Parts: sequence; C-alpha cells; structure tokens
Amino acid sequence: MMVPAVSDSVTINEVGPRDGLQSQGKTLSPGQRLDLIERLVGAGLRHVEAGSFVSPKAVPQMAGTDEVFHGLPAKDQVRYAALVPNMKGYELAVAAGARVVNVVLSVTETMNYENIRRTVDESATDFEGILERASAEGVAAQAYLAVAFECPFEGPVNPEVVRHYADRMTAAGAQKIIIADTIGAANPKGVQAVLEAVGAVVPVSRIACHFHDTRGMALANVLASLNYGVREFDASIGGLGGCPFSPGATGNVATEDVALMLDAMGYDTGIDPLALVPVVRHAQALTGTELGGKSFQWLARQHDGQQGGEPNGC
Ligand code: COA
Ligand code: ZN
Repeated sequence: MMVPAVSDSVTINEVGPRDGLQSQGKTLSPGQRLDLIERLVGAGLRHVEAGSFVSPKAVPQMAGTDEVFHGLPAKDQVRYAALVPNMKGYELAVAAGARVVNVVLSVTETMNYENIRRTVDESATDFEGILERASAEGVAAQAYLAVAFECPFEGPVNPEVVRHYADRMTAAGAQKIIIADTIGAANPKGVQAVLEAVGAVVPVSRIACHFHDTRGMALANVLASLNYGVREFDASIGGLGGCPFSPGATGNVATEDVALMLDAMGYDTGIDPLALVPVVRHAQALTGTELGGKSFQWLARQHDGQQGGEPNGC
C-alpha cells in the first residue's frame, strides 16, 4: 500500500470572530469585529471564519456580518469563510462577497433542533442543496459535523453516525469535512475512532478538526488528529468562545497554543506564536473576558522581553 506523503505544513483556521464572539455577553459592533480580524490577519492568520449569516434573533452577536464581509482586509491573500444555517444564509453570504461557506450539521436530533430548529435529515437535505448550488456557482463549501463525539443532550455519539453524514456531505460536494467536538468532550482515543470511521469515506487531506477545551484535552486531541494525518485545525484567539446552544461548552482550543505546539514540533503554520500575544490582549480588552491559552503567560513574557520590557522570571 502506498503511504501518502504527509505535508509538514499545517493550516490554522481562526474561528474566534465567529465561534468565539457568538457566545459573548457583550455584542461587538461590525467595526470592532473587523478590527479584531485585521489584527489576526496582521499576525499571520490566512484562514479566518469571519462571521455567520444566521437569524439576528437567534444570535444577535452576529448581526451585521454583511458589513464585516464588505470591510475585510487583504481579501486576495486570506481565505475568509462564512457560516450559513440555511439557503437564506447562503444567499446573504454570497451577496456580501463570501467565497467560502460552512454549513453545520449537528449529528444528533436534539442538538440540531436546538441550534437550527430542523431535524438532522431536514438539515442534511437543505445542506445538500446548498453544497450543490455552491459548486455550481464556484463557491467553496465545507461541512461541519457538530457534536461528533458527544452531545450535551443525548450523550456519546456512535462514530458510524459521523461517518454516514461525512459521506453524505462529501457526496453533495463538501470540499472539507470538519469534525467538531462542540462541547469539548473528546479524548485522543475517541478522536482516533472517529477519524478512522470518517477516514474510511473521506481522504484525510479533506478532513479538518475543531476542538473545544472544556476538559483540557483539546491540544491532546489536536496531536491525535495530527498523528492520524489531519493538517487543518480550527482554533480561536485566546481560547475565546463557547456555544450559546450547547450547555457547558467553553472556548475553542487557543490559537496561540496550537501555533506554539506546531511550531515547536517543526510544522510550518506561517504564524509566529509571539505575534499573537498583542492580539490576545486586544481580544480581551474588546470582549471584557479574561483570555489566554495554556501557553499564554509564557508567550507574553517572551513577547514583552523582546519588546524591551522586563521578562518576568517566576
Ligand atoms: N439569516 C438571517 N435571518 C434569517 C435566516 C438567515 N440565515 N434564516 C431565517 N432568517 C429569519 C427569517 O427571515 C425570519 O425572519 P422574520 O421573523 O423577521 O420573518 C426568522 O429568521 C425566522 O425564520 P425561520 O425560517 O422560521 O427560522 P427559524 O425560526 O426556524 O430559525 C434559523 C432557524 C436557522 C434561522 C435560526 O435557528 C438560526 O439562525 N440559528 C443559528 C444558530 C447558530 O448560529 N448557531 C451557532 C453556529 S452552529
Ligand atoms: Zn465550536
């Protein structure tokens, strides 16, 4: 059997401006959201989920995403994605200039209903329509499979269920399948099991992973996926986030932690982890939330030392 050459370059997809901000008590203006995105791009992020086109009644924090899309910086060099829950969202996203759209299918009935008020099958059918239309219109479309490990309402999820929907979304034209641990309940062994199930129907080059750090295992889960061959990971600056529809979920794995671990392991992400320090601080000031991944204090000392400040040795 031919072993595929595994690339040493890894993509970090920044989801703070969507997954992170959607659950904040404080709603930022489109201008403030753009300011955060500009700083992320300035720090080297080249894949950013810039917002969602969802009902402003359901998620007021994402109102004005069209304005955000109109103002996005460095559009030629950065791949900006928009989350869409239905065809109306797809149309609004494309009208605002989005060229990459993400659909999110929660693979359990209760979670999908809580999130978008549809059965899993109804949403899967809606998303097949969106994926097919996107391919016809030259828009890149990707599918998230949410609560792929455990659902806050229904408990553990069978990897075969995830495989079924991965297959269905890929057949409809999803360029990527993003396996999402929405509530941060996965562990490395479970990650391996889901990747083996999905990997049976989708090439690993088309699989990305999305981990939350609720139980402190997100980086271990990134490593397990990396060892399986996954080369694209979602992360949010400072670990910003949560999910308003899944009780108990906390933020995504922090961008600076993923960038630092990959950098230390010799992978090329195109991101200098130290350059993320001021962005974490900015996100903290904007949201009024205490932020920072596991490595943040150490990174901040290195960063401030380089800037001529006193590196704090203790
Ligand atoms: N963007 C903006 N408005 C939308 C919309 C979209 N994509 N889809 C529907 N709406 C509006 C409708 O126009 C309607 O507006 P009105 O009340 O002023 O007439 C209202 O929302 C209700 O429409 P309906 O189709 O009945 O939707 P619903 O009430 O069944 O809600 C969703 C379904 C998908 C619109 C809503 O649950 C939602 O936006 N969920 C997103 C949740 C989310 O972002 N989760 C986190 C990311 S996975
Ligand atoms: Zn998430």
